[in-house]
Amino acid sequence: MYEFRRTTLQEAVHNALGYQILSTKKLAKASVKFDFATRMRLGSVLFVGEGNLSFALTVARKSRTPASSILATVYEAEKDLTDTAYENAQKLLKIGCQVKTSVDATWLSDTIGNRRFQTIIFQFPNVASRDPRYGQNPNHVLVTRFLKSARDHLKYGGLVVISTVDSSFYEGAFKMDEAARKSGFAAPAIHTFVPNDYPGYIHQNTANEESAADGYTAFATFVFSG
Ligand SMILES: C[S@@+](CC[C@H](N)C(=O)[O-])C[C@H]1O[C@@H](n2cnc3c(N)ncnc32)[C@H](O)[C@@H]1O
Repeated sequence: MYEFRRTTLQEAVHNALGYQILSTKKLAKASVKFDFATRMRLGSVLFVGEGNLSFALTVARKSRTPASSILATVYEAEKDLTDTAYENAQKLLKIGCQVKTSVDATWLSDTIGNRRFQTIIFQFPNVASRDPRYGQNPNHVLVTRFLKSARDHLKYGGLVVISTVDSSFYEGAFKMDEAARKSGFAAPAIHTFVPNDYPGYIHQNTANEESAADGYTAFATFVFSG
């Protein structure tokens, strides 16, 4: 398990201004943060691939969204939840959110039927394998299939939100513009993501993997609209 490192002084100053300057190159694409809390106040929110459920819990507490409109899900079966995930699931249930296990983000209708949401969020998608699938990076395949599936579960005006490490390596792995095109979305808007804005959010690694975020200091949130 990995805890995001604390912000540097420079980041703190930029954060105080409401911006994080990642680098001159990245500034053009990622400057303003995505406001999860404000977005969630618009109503129904689905979290997928939540790992230990700490992001959903932190944002649910922060957003003043009616808890009943939040469905937080994990890929793992209930019996495979870590102690932290189990405890966070209990806390989410206690404040009135819904929690579901064994939810595959690439086949949402299997587990959530035909429910639709204003916002669907996948923080740091990552598959355990590095083996190419259909000649593509498996993480590109994951986000493409997730976007295709999520499309059928969005309300009018809905958004799909995905955060990843902001680096050329990850950009090359996910190829978000291509994933958007293949799944019928416009190219995503790109925001900066600052984990320390969400105290309590403890990023969880994919099983047996080194952290997707280890050693990285810049993170981006991609926002896909219809
Ligand atoms: C790097 S972890 C991030 C976990 C959590 N979102 C966070 O930010 O801490 C990647 C997560 O993607 C999940 N995942 C991988 N494939 C998935 C799929 N097909 N559907 C849903 N979740 C998936 C894994 O179970 C794992 O929890």
